[in-house]
Amino acid sequence: MRINYRLPAMLLLALAAGHATAQSATTLNVRSLAATCATCHGTEGRSVNGSAIVGLAGMPRDYMLTQFKAFKDGSRPATVMHQLAKGYTEQQLDALATYFSTLKR
Ligand code: HEC
Repeated sequence: MRINYRLPAMLLLALAAGHATAQSATTLNVRSLAATCATCHGTEGRSVNGSAIVGLAGMPRDYMLTQFKAFKDGSRPATVMHQLAKGYTEQQLDALATYFSTLKR
């Protein structure tokens, strides 16, 4: 009898791929959003030593969301963040604040 070994392997691959896609769509989305902050705030939110711009890794979620709101409505004066904050939706800012708060400083 000839056993077809390829079928279980293909099923496993399909299952693994399905799982990876479901999980990484959100992860990739937020990571690519977060990458837009890296130019100034450093890779993965860790600013370069001696940088005048604060790192975002480990920043408390609520604090970050409060700052975004203040940048957006102009109650916190800024050089660039008041303009940048306006370019992101509430959901994106929420996802960014959650993401950065989970990173190690
Ligand atoms: C062009 C450079 C630049 C980019 C890109 C940038 N920032 Fe900023 N960020 C700054 C500067 C400069 C400040 C200080 C406030 C100001 O003058 O705008 C700041 C301040 C902040 C603060 C307040 C920090 C504190 O200690 O109160 C937060 C939060 C923040 N940025 C989040 C982000 C996030 C999230 C992104 C990406 C979506 C981002 N920034 C992209 C330059 C940048």
